[in-house]
Amino acid sequence: MKTAAIVLAAGAGTRMKSKKPKVAHEMMGKPLVKWVIDAAAAAGMDKIVTVVGHGREQVEPLVADCTQVVVQPERRGTADAVGVCRDAFAGFDGSLLVLSGDCPLITPQTMEALLAMRAESNAAVVVLTMQPDDPTGYGRIIRDEGGAVLRIVEQKDASPEEAAVTECNSGVYCFDARALFDALGKVGSDNRQGEFYLTDVLEICRRAGRAVLALPARDDTECLGVNSRTQLAEATKIAQRRINEAHMAAGVTMLDPDQVWIGPDVAIEPDVELMPQVFLFGHTAVGEDSVIGPNTRLTDTVVGCSCVVDETVAVHAQIDDHATCGPRAYLRPGAHLCVGAKAGTHVEIKKSTIGPGSKVPHLSYVGDTDMGAGVNMGAGSITCNYDGKHKFPTVIGDNVFVGSSTMLVAPVTVGDGAVIGAGSVIARDVSPDALALTRPDQKEFEGWARKKREEFAKEG
Ligand code: UD1
Ligand code: CA
Repeated sequence: MKTAAIVLAAGAGTRMKSKKPKVAHEMMGKPLVKWVIDAAAAAGMDKIVTVVGHGREQVEPLVADCTQVVVQPERRGTADAVGVCRDAFAGFDGSLLVLSGDCPLITPQTMEALLAMRAESNAAVVVLTMQPDDPTGYGRIIRDEGGAVLRIVEQKDASPEEAAVTECNSGVYCFDARALFDALGKVGSDNRQGEFYLTDVLEICRRAGRAVLALPARDDTECLGVNSRTQLAEATKIAQRRINEAHMAAGVTMLDPDQVWIGPDVAIEPDVELMPQVFLFGHTAVGEDSVIGPNTRLTDTVVGCSCVVDETVAVHAQIDDHATCGPRAYLRPGAHLCVGAKAGTHVEIKKSTIGPGSKVPHLSYVGDTDMGAGVNMGAGSITCNYDGKHKFPTVIGDNVFVGSSTMLVAPVTVGDGAVIGAGSVIARDVSPDALALTRPDQKEFEGWARKKREEFAKEG
């Protein structure tokens, strides 16, 4: 059977008190709506459509590469939000999940369970239900004495007996697509909010003689909606625990899992050790036996095996096997530490390759540089790659020794095996195996310091 999903993301989310639409807020580096879309993609959808409206210019760029986008011109209710997708699903015959862009914790497994239940029963709809501690604000699932689902009543429209029901609508459904779009035409807005309720589709389908089923969530936290900053923090905590537990089960050590934040798209091999205050975001990957942290943030960074990455910030960087980094290193986009290389303390590297076994141990800036193997960059040495307008490249050959506090004024090339004297300003190319230094002669004034001290002493 064909399967598809609609992700509702047109609402404003006023309780966030934000200039950003709610679904664009991030949980561990990833927008809420993307969590939902990626979970749907993992459940194997043939098609995913995102409904945008409020703040669409901010939401659309987040989802346009991975879903079809449909605009809901006016927020007239959840049935209207699904209704604007009618053309996108013309001729579609299969199961259609309806998901909320503000429910980021929903899992592919739950989507698969909904799809399976509908496929087996040929129901018009299966709704995912939950039993929240506080059901205020949620739609209530009304069943008959036999337990069959009759309808969903919104809190605002509920009688006191209905409001006393504890089973609630999670806002996640699996529909027979044809039955859904047939029924949508019959949904009215005669209710307390004057909105077109998607929930009315259940009763319409049941009256048309179709089965309407409910699947209680195996874990209610999956249904947590993010409407406020407090709920955003709660959802983040749940996601953090869920992700960390999966990594620990797969062989990753964490000194304190409460102090480790790992995004959903991060890959970590067994026997990696994560110290406190570690943030791994985006498509970061860490190879086995590496130790990361403490105080480290890696975004879209690939770390090899047996690396030590201590107090480091890295963005779009690559750290190969046996390389070491930090404490207090900053690897900017395009930084590449080759096998066994080192970026040490207070070292910043941008768009540069540090060749195999090469070391940049202390207080350096290396930018736009292609460094060979076995190089030692002395303390405080930097590349001067920028003239205020343009960037220029530096090339450093194999086994070069750069003395401390050297300025390499780009564009410049230092040949293999060359040695540069400490304190030099190298503005011209250096031949292989040469010694280059720019250093004024040292002067000495005998006894000068002692005389000065004696003068000071007389002054008292
Ligand atoms: C909805 C359900 C309620 C359920 C709850 C679960 C209805 C009528 N009620 O209520 O039974 O318990 O979700 O969280 O469906 N949206 C649009 N366009 C609109 C209206 C809403 O895209 O015109 C989107 C919102 O951005 C949100 C989702 O649909 O992602 C749910 O809408 P919301 O207004 O939050 O519905 P609730 O009142 O919470
Ligand atoms: Ca809601």
